Amino acid sequence: MTSSKITLGIETSCDETGVALYCSERGLIADALHSQVDLHAAYGGVVPEIASRDHIRMLLPLIQQLMDEAGVEKPDAIAYTAGPGLVGALMVGAGVANGLGMAWNCLVVPVHHMEGHLLAPMLEPNPPDFPFLALLVSGGHTLLIAVRALGQYEVLGTTLDDAAGEAFDKTAKLLGLAYPGGPLLAKLAEEGDDAAFDFPRPMLNRPTLDFSFSGLKTAVMLEVRKAEAAGHLDARRADIAASFQRAAVDTLVGKTIKAASSAGLIRLVVAGGVGANRLLRNDMAKRFPGEVFYPRFEFCTDNGAMIAVAGAMRLAEASDALEIKAVARWSLASLAVPTAV
Ligand code: KG4
Ligand code: ZN
Repeated sequence: MTSSKITLGIETSCDETGVALYCSERGLIADALHSQVDLHAAYGGVVPEIASRDHIRMLLPLIQQLMDEAGVEKPDAIAYTAGPGLVGALMVGAGVANGLGMAWNCLVVPVHHMEGHLLAPMLEPNPPDFPFLALLVSGGHTLLIAVRALGQYEVLGTTLDDAAGEAFDKTAKLLGLAYPGGPLLAKLAEEGDDAAFDFPRPMLNRPTLDFSFSGLKTAVMLEVRKAEAAGHLDARRADIAASFQRAAVDTLVGKTIKAASSAGLIRLVVAGGVGANRLLRNDMAKRFPGEVFYPRFEFCTDNGAMIAVAGAMRLAEASDALEIKAVARWSLASLAVPTAV
């Protein structure tokens, strides 16, 4: 008899329906993703009600397809994103996970979305050992975390205003790019001169490990207005994008190096949607003094695989009580693993 366990992961916190099967011995078996990006693009951002409805439409067929293709009849556990995120969207994943858990008589594990992001590199062939520093940069969060062990998370720095991804998305919108603008802005920046504008590197020279992106956003807005008034915005768009990206990346890399040195950590995990940014990856590789770990590109943004692996790592603490947990705000620092008595 084998002791290997298969965990089904379910992610529905925002605008991606993600599912995956993770095996404690073989690693990731299969994953599938349905993106709602096209549905929300017309509104310039995620519409919560539309997100919930589309998760309802897609989640069960996606799970069925995943299980059929992987030839798995029933998992040993189900992990679902319980927060933070859009409550209506989270409730779809929580409801389906608990319903299937009851039908299959298996353990159901609520997972913190950001813990999923920070454990996503555990899906790769060369995963990091604890302890490490994590830079979590997504549409909703910018966090520097000292990860001492599973569940031992100390937040060293966070954003005082916009998240890094939000700053990319808002700047992209100012430049007339579609939603979500982060990847489109990065692409436009490839054609621009990143020294064309000397945008501020917010808080970089202050001792705090917190971030602030609103001043940078305002500086970009003023340049966009100036270029518009002069009738040459089209000619300057790529330069503005490149200069913005350079300033944002300098800030992220600078603060990360400071955090690693003050916390005495030599390994770094970069995760979350902005972790897919190539300039950030290249600069971090050049400047960070220790080893840097990333999830593969498609697991930087929201996905079911990171929830499956995080749930699998927390199986030992799972209770067999069914509970629909869906929380909009949830601190990572509250996740300490209970110690055995
Ligand atoms: O982690 P994620 O998929 O969702 C949240 O949990 O928020 O992150 C999405 C964010 C968006 O703001 C998106 O524009 C940004 O990640 N993003 C990027 C890139 N790819 C995704 N930002 C900059 N460069 C990229 N290549
Ligand atoms: Zn995310």
